[in-house]
Amino acid sequence: MDWNEGSRRSFLKGLGAAGALAVTAAHSEALPQPAFPAEAQAASPIQAKMAATRAERMKWWHEAKFGMFIHWGLYSVIGQHEWAKEVEGVPLAQYELLAKHFTPKPNAAREWARLAKRAGQKYMVMTTKHHEGFCHWDSKLTDYTSAKQGPGRDLVREFVDAARAEGLRVGFYYSLMDWHHPDGAACKTDEAARKRFVAYTHGLIRELLTNYGKIDVLWYDVDWPLSAAGWESERMNEMVFELQPGIIVNNRNGLEGDFSTPEQNVEAAPEGRAWESCMTLNDSWGFNRGDDSWKSPKTIVGNLANCARNGGNYLLNIGPKPDGSIPEETVSVLEAVGKWLETNGKAIYATDRGSFGWNSNANYTRRGNTLFIHQQYWPGKSPAAEWVPFFGPEAVIAIGGLQAKAKSARLLKTGQPVAFTQDEFALRLTGLPVVAPDQPATVIEVECDGNPVIDHDAKRPLWPRLKVGIS
Ligand code: GLC
Repeated sequence: MDWNEGSRRSFLKGLGAAGALAVTAAHSEALPQPAFPAEAQAASPIQAKMAATRAERMKWWHEAKFGMFIHWGLYSVIGQHEWAKEVEGVPLAQYELLAKHFTPKPNAAREWARLAKRAGQKYMVMTTKHHEGFCHWDSKLTDYTSAKQGPGRDLVREFVDAARAEGLRVGFYYSLMDWHHPDGAACKTDEAARKRFVAYTHGLIRELLTNYGKIDVLWYDVDWPLSAAGWESERMNEMVFELQPGIIVNNRNGLEGDFSTPEQNVEAAPEGRAWESCMTLNDSWGFNRGDDSWKSPKTIVGNLANCARNGGNYLLNIGPKPDGSIPEETVSVLEAVGKWLETNGKAIYATDRGSFGWNSNANYTRRGNTLFIHQQYWPGKSPAAEWVPFFGPEAVIAIGGLQAKAKSARLLKTGQPVAFTQDEFALRLTGLPVVAPDQPATVIEVECDGNPVIDHDAKRPLWPRLKVGIS
C-alpha cells in the first residue's frame, strides 16, 4: 500500500471497529483548517490581544522558514509509527509496559539539536505528549511520565537545553487527544469527566509553560473528542499568553491561533495568514523500522522553496529510535539540505511572499525586489540551437512573464555574474555552464527594479496572435 496521508486515512476508515472509527473521525477532524472561520472569533478578547501582537511575536518565525519536528514516544519502542496503539489494537495494560522499556541514552536531544543546526533549521518542536498520553516531563498531575517511568529523567528539560545550546528556538507539541487518561474519551459524553479532563489538560500545559523558561511555539494537535467550547480553548489560550506573552500558537485547539498547519502537503494560506507545512521525511512521524520511503534532498529543498515562495514555513519531521538516535537516512538527507542552505540560505531565510507563475523546472522566491530562481532541472545544451540560433550555444534559462526589469544577475553559489537579455516577453539568462553548477538546485539571484512578479498571462496580449490563450 502506498502509505501516504490519503491512503492512511482511508485505511483507518476501513478498520471498522467502533474505537478505530472514533479515532478515524478524530484524525480527519484535525485535518481541515482553519477549524473555525475567523469572523466567528473576531469578538474574543484573547483573539484581539493575539492579533495586536502577532506581527511582532511572529517576526523571528517568518524569517526562520525551516524547523525540525520531532516525534518521539513509547511508540518508538514498537517501531511501527506513532499510531501503533490504535492501528494494531494494543491493549492499554500492554502498552503501558513499554514505559518500562523506554530507556533512551542520556541527552539524545543534543544529537537532534546539532543535526538541526547543521541542516539549517532554526527551531525545533518536540512531542511533549503525543496521543498515547505519555508525558516527557516530571508532571505533578500524573505518574505516566518519563521522570517516573523507564528513563527516570525529564526529557523535556533535556530537549529545551539542547535546543538552546545550539541557539535554536524551542517549540512544544501537545496532543489534546489522550488515549491513556481515563477521561480522555469519556469527556465527550460525561460532563464531570470533561471538567476533570479539561482541568488536567490545562494543568499539564501550565506546567510546560511555567517550568522551562521562554517557550517560542506551542503546537497543539488533535482536539478530538471536544470542540473549542468543550476544551475551553479561549481560556486555554488566555493562560498560555499570560505565562508566555511572546509565544506563538497553532490552530489545532479548535481556535484559529497564529498560523495554519497544512499536513503532508504544501498548501499556502490566503495572503495575510501565516502558515507552516508539516511533513514527514519518510511516510511516518514516529520511528517506523520498515519505512524506507525517504524523500530525497532534492524533494526537501524543493518543498522548502515551495513554502518560502508563498510566505510559509516548513516543519520537517524526524522520528528518533527508542534510544534517541536518529535513523541514518534522516541524517544524510538533512545534512545534504544543510549544505545547500550554507550557500543558498539567502534565497530561503527572511524571504517575502511572492507572486509567481508556474514553472515545472524551477521554483521562485523573492526578497524585496530580488528574485531567486531555483533551477531544479538544469537545461544543459539544447540541440535546438543548431538549427535555431535563438536558443543559444550554451545553457540558457528563460523566464517568461517577468514584470520587473532585471538589473543584474549572478549565481548564488559562486557569486559569478550571469549575462542576460530581457524584452517584453522574457528574461533570458545566457552563457550558463552546460552542467548545473549546484545541486540539488542552482539558484540565480536577479536584482530587479521592482517587485519581481512573474505573470505568464501578462505577455499573452503582446503576441501577434492576440489573446488566443496559449501562444
Ligand atoms: C496527525 C497525526 C499525528 C501527528 C500529527 C502531526 O494529527 O495524528 O500522529 O502527530 O498529525 O501533524
